Amino acid sequence: MEHALDITLTVNGAQVSRRVEPREHLIDFLRERLGLTGSHVGCEHGVCGACTVRVDGAIVRGCLMLAVQANGCRVETVEGLSDSKELARLQKAFHARNALQCGFCTPGMLLAAQDLILNSSKPSREEIRQHISGNYCRCTGYQAIVDAIEEVTQSEATGG
Ligand code: FES
Ligand code: FES
Repeated sequence: MEHALDITLTVNGAQVSRRVEPREHLIDFLRERLGLTGSHVGCEHGVCGACTVRVDGAIVRGCLMLAVQANGCRVETVEGLSDSKELARLQKAFHARNALQCGFCTPGMLLAAQDLILNSSKPSREEIRQHISGNYCRCTGYQAIVDAIEEVTQSEATGG
């Protein structure tokens, strides 16, 4: 590869080293090079949120970040957060409340929701809506998604 760069990062707890093109986006690196296709690619310009992943503890849009920018970082995807069971309660609530139809938005939605849970003790429905406003869903009308997130945030708040 011409002008390729070597990067080393941690992906879902495992150290990964690869040679990448400078213009390769993080989401393409994760999906195409590492086979982590749980995060989706929708708009490819930072609007839909389907490509949301976590980098050093903060959610980012994988289509707006270059793989080289993740050099030395800790990257977590929906696969890793599912395996660690961090998303288990949200996944259960989404399932129980029919908060997904085609499922295209769901991985990004789960990461955004989990980010809210980690950073807010008892968000209102309006705050939940605000927090997922960068994650588009074409199917559900959002009501069931907000219900599912609220169920988890309420039970987190009461320790239940
Ligand atoms: S694919 Fe990244 S925000 Fe839409
Ligand atoms: S469930 Fe289809 S886009 Fe959200």
